[in-house]
Amino acid sequence: MPFSPFRLGALELPNRLVMAPMTRSRAYVDGIPSTLTALYYAQRASAGLIVSEGVQPSAAGKGYMDTPGLHTDRQVAGWREVTDAVHAAGGRIFAQLMHVGRVGHPDNTGAIPVAPSAVRLQSQIFTPNGPQDPPTPVALTTEEAEATIGDFADAARRAIDAGFDGVELHGANGYLIHQFLSQNANLRQDRFGGSVENRIRFAVETARAVADAVGAHRVGIRISPATGSQDLVEEDAHEVYPALLAELADIGLVYLHHLAGGSAEFDGRVRALWPHALIVNDPAKADPSAASAHWLGQGADLVALGRSFLANPDLPVRLRLGAPLNEPDLSKAFGGDHTGYTDYPALALHPA
Ligand SMILES: Cc1cc2nc3c(=O)[nH]c(=O)nc-3n(C[C@H](O)[C@H](O)[C@H](O)COP(=O)(O)O)c2cc1C
Repeated sequence: MPFSPFRLGALELPNRLVMAPMTRSRAYVDGIPSTLTALYYAQRASAGLIVSEGVQPSAAGKGYMDTPGLHTDRQVAGWREVTDAVHAAGGRIFAQLMHVGRVGHPDNTGAIPVAPSAVRLQSQIFTPNGPQDPPTPVALTTEEAEATIGDFADAARRAIDAGFDGVELHGANGYLIHQFLSQNANLRQDRFGGSVENRIRFAVETARAVADAVGAHRVGIRISPATGSQDLVEEDAHEVYPALLAELADIGLVYLHHLAGGSAEFDGRVRALWPHALIVNDPAKADPSAASAHWLGQGADLVALGRSFLANPDLPVRLRLGAPLNEPDLSKAFGGDHTGYTDYPALALHPA
């Protein structure tokens, strides 16, 4: 089943295995992906679909060290090398558009983070000077929130110009879109805050603007309901997410990428709530074969795998053969050179 093809919008995926988005913090200055990045993704082109690391849609969307962007022409040119390399190797790649919101630090970006409300993140951010408390973010005005939605649409256009096959909106893991959905990081009193209808509005309007910009068949979204990421409180997730998914389904987004584990009740309902392609990523299932068998059995169309793709450039063929897997070295996850990045070996065809 993981090795059967799947039609995703206009794309024919050769298998059901998606490389999950993973920040690797190896961009050149000015957020330009490095030439090593092209090699890294091309090595992983046998994935049914690659979702790139989080890419900031604007300078204000950056929070961590050395992450790439999609808001300048030079960044587009850098990504073009990446997408060309992936396509030449036979793969398909979406860009994950990730605005960190309050999860940032001025030592990484030169600016105070912006967020739905002036509510500080309670955990630390890694900076060149070590882990530090982030400052209290500046609340976006209504006009600035609308302009931020426009930044997502512009970045999506740039992603297509750069040769990406589509974009994934990062609505998960406690970043900006997720902050708007939450009860504790969004204390707004305008049309983006308060009721469930208002708290889903930023996500819905972003999805609509991005779909208008590049076509809904090229836009997916990632969610992680009630996972408690970045200390977000979502006690009404059982109301927020069904309302959100109904709106996003109407817009016709090509896929929902669900990060399981926050709510067993929602995990059991997500297939029934989402009428289009469903990707599930389940961090609790360490064995990628077991994760795929379980979620494809539960009706997911595709299964996303993170750390096992990080460490195994040729993961699909390894799973098909039942071959041993390389272990990821997460001490080299963020930043550094080619080690722990492009030097994981593919399976030897003729082992000694
Ligand atoms: C090094 C690393 C970086 C990550 N960066 C991102 C990211 O940029 N965007 C995102 O949505 N998730 C990110 N994640 C989460 C992964 O997409 C995935 O949800 C997580 O690794 C669990 O899946 P797994 O058990 O298959 O690894 C990251 C995970 C890792 C290990």
